[in-house]
Amino acid sequence: MRIEDQDGPTSSGSMLSDVADAAPKKIFIKTYGCQMNVYDSDRMVDVMAPHGYSETSSPDDADIVLLNTCHIRERAADKVYSELGRLRDMKNEREAAGGKKLVIGVAGCVAQAEGSEMQRRAPYVDMIVGPQSYHNLPAMVARSGNGGPAQVETDFPAEDKFVSMPAAEKRKTLARGPTAFLTIQEGCDKFCTFCVVPYTRGSEYSRPLTRILDEARSLVDGGVREITLLGQNVNAFHGEDEAGRPTTLGGLIRALAKIDGLERLRYTTSHPRDMDDALIEAHGDVKKLMPYLHLPVQSGSDRVLDAMNRQHTAEHYIRLIEKIRAARPDIALSSDFIVGFPGETDADFEATLGLIREVGFVQAYSFKYSSRPGTPAATRDEQIAEEVKVERLQRLQALIGEQQVAFNRACAGRRLPVLFDRKGRTPTQLVGRSPYLQSVHIENAPASLFGQIAEIDIEEGFAQSLRGRLVREVLAPA
Ligand code: 5AD
Ligand code: SF4
Repeated sequence: MRIEDQDGPTSSGSMLSDVADAAPKKIFIKTYGCQMNVYDSDRMVDVMAPHGYSETSSPDDADIVLLNTCHIRERAADKVYSELGRLRDMKNEREAAGGKKLVIGVAGCVAQAEGSEMQRRAPYVDMIVGPQSYHNLPAMVARSGNGGPAQVETDFPAEDKFVSMPAAEKRKTLARGPTAFLTIQEGCDKFCTFCVVPYTRGSEYSRPLTRILDEARSLVDGGVREITLLGQNVNAFHGEDEAGRPTTLGGLIRALAKIDGLERLRYTTSHPRDMDDALIEAHGDVKKLMPYLHLPVQSGSDRVLDAMNRQHTAEHYIRLIEKIRAARPDIALSSDFIVGFPGETDADFEATLGLIREVGFVQAYSFKYSSRPGTPAATRDEQIAEEVKVERLQRLQALIGEQQVAFNRACAGRRLPVLFDRKGRTPTQLVGRSPYLQSVHIENAPASLFGQIAEIDIEEGFAQSLRGRLVREVLAPA
């Protein structure tokens, strides 16, 4: 799983201004946390669209406000309750002014974890819906607003969710730009001792391969050139290929790579235990699979890895990276790290720094351990002092920062294919992604370059991005 932004929510509403607005009713979704939540928020818009709802970028004109929440680290629930307090005031103000009714819903992992506790603490909430029950939203909305207690749907009927979602081609949220997410797998059976995911998202479930291929084709028909496959444990994906043979992520990637017009594939987030040979081989010979891998290791100390129940050692991780690099020598690596796990000594932390030096990462997400109620690590006595966690996090981030800037600087002088997917700060600036997921900025970009892959001469590498110059424009858009 990947957390883009622990503290700030992503407003998926603001990305959707072009959604057809024939429908009179509006839904506003505030999305917290990982890319899987961003994807789910889009699916919730899709599921409500046939019922006359279009998305709005502001809660003020919304009939439904939905918070799609994240529970991965602490204070998540507190933040949701304070946001709910603001929504309660808004609901009351509207009622007092005789304005339109406001339906308040909470979705995602906090909804799953809090369930009926939220009914008690925030009785003005109308709907509490866990991540596996989004297909029930229209029925919940239809039943809402009769003054009764919140409806709670937090079961785990994993198979139902996607099957009863609108078919890909009917989606309102499909293909907003040249890059898209596609969830292929959900849930996790690994039970790392710090993590809530197995409890909030349930056990591993893979979507059927044919539905994934259909969705990918629809995305490409809508202009998408790059797809990032999503899953809490994405490389645990398993299914049957079109001939009925068992397949894993490597096979799925090969099937997706055959889609004309789809130029790039990525996936996130993986577990080292599930990096099977088929996937490593795909890194070696599927050209569309980008040379970038986010493979969380969490710690470089075997003692800590064992206490985390990661089911691998530091040595296993390092050998795995060697194998992946043998298949794809230029692969750029990213990871997740936790500092200050209960019982982590200075020596354990030094071992993590040692692993970082040995492997070499181009970027990473790093976190201070935070105790999550209900997880095994939360009850351990040897909790680490906050100031120790802060100091370790700073040292780790400084080391990763050095590796990142060194990698970016070393790209100067190279010619890289860049997919342009964002506007820059000035009207003539465009921003894209290199194969290694670096942001690449160019000046004096022809507008026709948006959505295209073009060869760029990299002129300078910075801490977080690259600056380059267009070699030649791609004249025949796909
Ligand atoms: N404390 C700190 N970080 C955590 N993560 C997951 N649970 C916790 C926790 N309790 C981090 C892990 C994981 C990433 C998504 O979030 O590094 O890979
Ligand atoms: Fe959480 Fe571990 Fe599963 Fe990742 S592999 S989602 S950290 S339990």
